[in-house]
Amino acid sequence: MAETTQTIDEPTDEPTGAPATEDILNVNGLTKVYPDGTVAVEDISFSIADGDFCVLIGPSGCGKSTTLHSLVGKFPITDGEVLLDGVDITNTETYKRDIGLVFQDFQLFPHLTVEENIRYGLERLERPGDEIDRKVSELAETMQIDGMLERSPEELSAGQKQRVALARSLVLEPKLLLLDEPLGDMDYKLQKRMERELLRIHREFETTFVYVTHDQTQAMRLADQIVVMNDGKVEQSGSSYDVYNAPATAFVATFVGDSDIFRGEVAEISEDGSRARIDTNFGRFEASTANLESAPADVVGEQIPFSVRPQYIRIDDAAENTLECDILDVINQPGSGTQLLLEANGADGAVSELQVKLTEQATFDEDTVTIGWDAEHATMLERTSVLPDIDLEKDVLGE
Ligand SMILES: Nc1ncnc2c1ncn2[C@@H]1O[C@H](COP(=O)(O)OP(=O)(O)OP(=O)(O)O)[C@@H](O)[C@H]1O
Ligand SMILES: [Mg+2]
Repeated sequence: MAETTQTIDEPTDEPTGAPATEDILNVNGLTKVYPDGTVAVEDISFSIADGDFCVLIGPSGCGKSTTLHSLVGKFPITDGEVLLDGVDITNTETYKRDIGLVFQDFQLFPHLTVEENIRYGLERLERPGDEIDRKVSELAETMQIDGMLERSPEELSAGQKQRVALARSLVLEPKLLLLDEPLGDMDYKLQKRMERELLRIHREFETTFVYVTHDQTQAMRLADQIVVMNDGKVEQSGSSYDVYNAPATAFVATFVGDSDIFRGEVAEISEDGSRARIDTNFGRFEASTANLESAPADVVGEQIPFSVRPQYIRIDDAAENTLECDILDVINQPGSGTQLLLEANGADGAVSELQVKLTEQATFDEDTVTIGWDAEHATMLERTSVLPDIDLEKDVLGE
């Protein structure tokens, strides 16, 4: 990412020690337009509960780093406000913000030892020497880096560097620790080990973490709360359970876990309001209205997408919803069932590729298969969104 040439505004607001709220962070209407006119984030709002492990997730270029840099005050924001523990810090100088930032490449000072790296922030704040000694040695022990305090950063492995970078931020006891893809360059096994380490550190320090990644499986493993960003906007913010089980938009449904997306016109609503019957180019399907924001009756006649998780689809021609498909590919993964790639052909030349995940290993004699799923697993997605990773013509039924 290119460096901004802007400087930090003079502070106009000092933290006043206003009463704490349950949220440690409130971002209200944040917009950042870079000097070249790029609108990197536009009117985003989200809150983070004190002590949560929050994961900010979205595709490359969607504005994740810009959001983190806005929180630490790397540059003046274009519009909006940032509250930390109820205090407006929108114009507070970076070093007074009580927010730590760990970069993807850690950015340790190469000419300083591990110990000097960790001491650096406290020394800049001119804390008493014995306090610094005590804090650094306590932290080094907790982070299991006490045996390498005299080494220089280049003598450390990636995992050790990460722990030093975390120690350097945590020693300042920030209210909020931001981590920008800190495991991006590590191999899969080391990533998994460092994820467990991060969760342990998060529990032990009781600090709120905001962790950026574009890896949705990592997000699901780490997060209490997920903020899903796309194209400079927040698509959804909520518990990882809600974001997975009740995605607000087709983008969220496909980015956080896999989903098959259907689209059609709502023909009618069941008497109790719990089900919608939706006409697509592939036939009429029943979907659950539980995820709708509007009253179900209000969406009759509307074009509404719905999503089905591939693991809720089975080979079943007697299910509530069925669809005959051509089999494109059968992938048997030892130990994790069978993944099917299917193609459905509908009216008006509509074609859609679908995924199905079967828990058992399966083989198929025919070229076609009839799949089925229950209406309760067909989640209606009311809000519209941009789908940058999906070829609408090809992948979204009914288009
Ligand atoms: N200094 C800058 N000047 C102009 N445009 C910028 C600058 N920094 C970032 N951008 C643009 O702002 C948008 C958001 O960038 P940002 O780095 O926040 O995305 P990101 O979600 O962190 O992406 P990645 O996952 O690739 O790190 C992109 O279009 C990017 O090109
Ligand atoms: Mg980034």
